[in-house]
Amino acid sequence: MENGIVRFGRYTLAFLAAGVGLYALRYAAVPANIWLGVDQGIRGVIEKVPLQALTHMIVAPVALLTGPWQFIPQLRARWPRLHRWTGRLYVVACVVAGVAALATAPFASGGPVAGLGFGTLAVLWLWTTISGWRAAVNRKFEQHRIWMRFSYAMTFGAVTLRLQIPPGFIFFHFHSYSEMSVWLAYTAWIPNVIVVAIYSWLLAWRKRGDTVRTPQAA
Ligand code: HEM
Repeated sequence: MENGIVRFGRYTLAFLAAGVGLYALRYAAVPANIWLGVDQGIRGVIEKVPLQALTHMIVAPVALLTGPWQFIPQLRARWPRLHRWTGRLYVVACVVAGVAALATAPFASGGPVAGLGFGTLAVLWLWTTISGWRAAVNRKFEQHRIWMRFSYAMTFGAVTLRLQIPPGFIFFHFHSYSEMSVWLAYTAWIPNVIVVAIYSWLLAWRKRGDTVRTPQAA
């Protein structure tokens, strides 16, 4: 029986991801020279490297929007084909947006320290997503679940980054997003990865306990 807290967490995650993902789709209007609420620092990045920056900003929301549904067990059980096709879309979005992010990171508005944080994130994002996809193809579903949890922890960094912006202005007195992004390039995703590592470890520990209590018949 699924724990109520976990279920609540999943729906909250999907709700926040939908908000940030849909809001980010405004970047699709930039090629038509329409800059809806785009930060000046980010505009500078787009003007320097438009192809990689806009590819990233338009494709990455697809990963953010498709990911949460993949973790809902009832959906996976009821519509396995939908899980597979949405999963392929998620992987393609992560790979395209991840390669574009890696090519954008050296031009990050926060400078080289921010660039290093985003670049590291891009490499880890590509690695965990491709490993998760390969595990599914090889029918190693336990490994697939673990890799994909880590992949989405990083995808969700897009949400945790934006949640940290208002407190950054109010409590830490930053003057711009670019100034703050030296920190955000790390604080956006490292806590998510730690939470997923602890969650995965707890699941493994509980599963081991169950196996010891109900040993398999030889
Ligand atoms: C997980 C790996 C990701 C990496 C490595 C990454 C990297 C970057 C970088 C380097 C920038 C330029 C930021 C700057 O100059 O300070 C950026 C901006 C942006 N990224 Fe990502 N990103 C990732 C995930 C995502 C996701 C999942 C979304 C989905 C919404 C997203 C949407 C955007 C948007 C919309 C911008 C423009 C800035 C803004 O409006 O806040 N990114 N990203």
